[in-house]
Amino acid sequence: MRRKLVAGNWKMHGALHQNSELLTRIVAEASGLLCEIAVCPPYPYLAQVRSLIQGVAVALGAQSVSEHPSGAFTGEVSGSMLAEFGCRYVLVGHSERRALFGETDTVVAAKFEAAQKAGLIPILCVGETLSERESGKTEFVVARQLSAVLDRLGVAAMSSAVVAYEPVWAIGTGVTASPSQAQEVHAAIRAQIAALGSGVAADLRILYGGSVKPQNAKELFGQSDIDGGLIGGAALVADDFLTICHAAN
Ligand code: 13P
Repeated sequence: MRRKLVAGNWKMHGALHQNSELLTRIVAEASGLLCEIAVCPPYPYLAQVRSLIQGVAVALGAQSVSEHPSGAFTGEVSGSMLAEFGCRYVLVGHSERRALFGETDTVVAAKFEAAQKAGLIPILCVGETLSERESGKTEFVVARQLSAVLDRLGVAAMSSAVVAYEPVWAIGTGVTASPSQAQEVHAAIRAQIAALGSGVAADLRILYGGSVKPQNAKELFGQSDIDGGLIGGAALVADDFLTICHAAN
């Protein structure tokens, strides 16, 4: 039985006082939830968030990680640094990193590996653009993104990882993939992994991300291959995030 995971990706949002208000609400309700909850704040707030969630069933995650373990890489943050700050999860290959910061499939796979080497659980983000969907390439693109990691590390690497399917056209647009559209891609992802290792595929959590809101979360999370959500905008509003967490219960 896969335990549902709801992770908040704060992106480049937050401020000390806002984080504190948001987490006070989340922490107060976290113990009543059956799903696992994670929050991924910007790097400078990891220490603050860590102290606010201490002793509570909320996991900490980061939004990116360097593919290098250490060295002369100005502006980068290594996996071991994130682990030292109490991170359990780290996003790799978010579409904004791919599109705006030039992260290729190869770089994403290297970051995935670096995360696991540091003891972190990578949340591998995959997803197609609107033009890729409209030209019928959705499953091809997602399979290619997944293969970059599978070819580099083998299917066993997926036993301590999470995958997030985030169609680029649904991110921050208010347009959500329909539950059946999402389920179709989630099932394809699981089938690709199952072809290499059925046990790994059965246990793998595949999250959906892209305009998840209180109004659509329950139906999305009710699909057989959707194991929770990666939440952007709604993760910054306590009521919305908590309603989404309850929908995963
Ligand atoms: P939104 O929920 O704001 O669409 O963002 C989704 C996302 O990119 C989460 O990583």
